[in-house]
Amino acid sequence: QKHLLGIEPLHPEEIRTVLDLAERYVDLNRAAEKHSDVLRGLTQINMFFENSTRTQASFELAGKRLGADVMNMSMQASSIKKGETLIDTALTLNAMHPDLLVVRHPHSGAVNLLAEKVNCAVLNAGDGKHEHPTQALLDALTIRRAKGRLHRLNIAICGDIAHSRVARSNLMLLGKMENRVRLVGPATLMPSGMEEFGCEVFDDMREGLKDVDVVMMLRLQRERMDGGFIPSEREYYHRWGLDAEKLAYAKPDAIVMHPGPMNRGVEIDGQIADDINRSVIQEQVEMGVAVRMAAMDLLARNLRAAHANPEVMV
Ligand code: CP
Repeated sequence: QKHLLGIEPLHPEEIRTVLDLAERYVDLNRAAEKHSDVLRGLTQINMFFENSTRTQASFELAGKRLGADVMNMSMQASSIKKGETLIDTALTLNAMHPDLLVVRHPHSGAVNLLAEKVNCAVLNAGDGKHEHPTQALLDALTIRRAKGRLHRLNIAICGDIAHSRVARSNLMLLGKMENRVRLVGPATLMPSGMEEFGCEVFDDMREGLKDVDVVMMLRLQRERMDGGFIPSEREYYHRWGLDAEKLAYAKPDAIVMHPGPMNRGVEIDGQIADDINRSVIQEQVEMGVAVRMAAMDLLARNLRAAHANPEVMV
């Protein structure tokens, strides 16, 4: 692949390649010397048009630990504020010869559009409700390490499915790896026709969590709810928030995941989020750095191959 725009075009073997390489970067990140030269001489630009803590920090660290020259564009201070379009901004940066462009944007499809206009490799760091591929890959690595496999698991993705790019990318990845995925949440936050993706749909948490191996919680994404149903936090927590009573329906060794940012007392009880015997939320953050290193390493290999032999499309 030239870019990493989504999980949709990836084959299971490509997913395994990213995860296997990321395992090596987990070891590097835990070492005293966290440095490699695999991106030396390459320029990485991070463009975040939407807020981020985990994704932006981990892409920056990933690039720096691999030896890239990393620039974080401050989109709030950019000429976007003077009316410049996304495409003109991208073309402007493209003229400075970056090699890797990491982009988060509030509009679904914006990152794919941008990738058509530039010469470098583009990594989607989350576009609207569409895809968040590195999140799904880091979730997959976390599950594989916790459960010892990434197939034939029962996995419940719970909460605001309708507005979640994390749910969408995970649904595709986990399906490709032959897991059984359930979507659990209020009917008003569940897109219609999800069964066509091969998953089961529940609006009752206790039924949806019964005997699952993995419970993946999502927050209410209010920034993407334009005037539709917004439940009260109290009502939402009562019916769909993960507490000890509801978690007891899952397998005794089920793990609890959350991509962050978390809203404690809304979609998840704070004690469950902090329970080191059940929660792998901090491991997810750790895997995020390793997966992003692996993704950029693999794209950089393609870039180098294309530079070495410009006649051949990689
Ligand atoms: N999971 C995730 O994308 O978190 P951030 O918005 O903090 O990057």
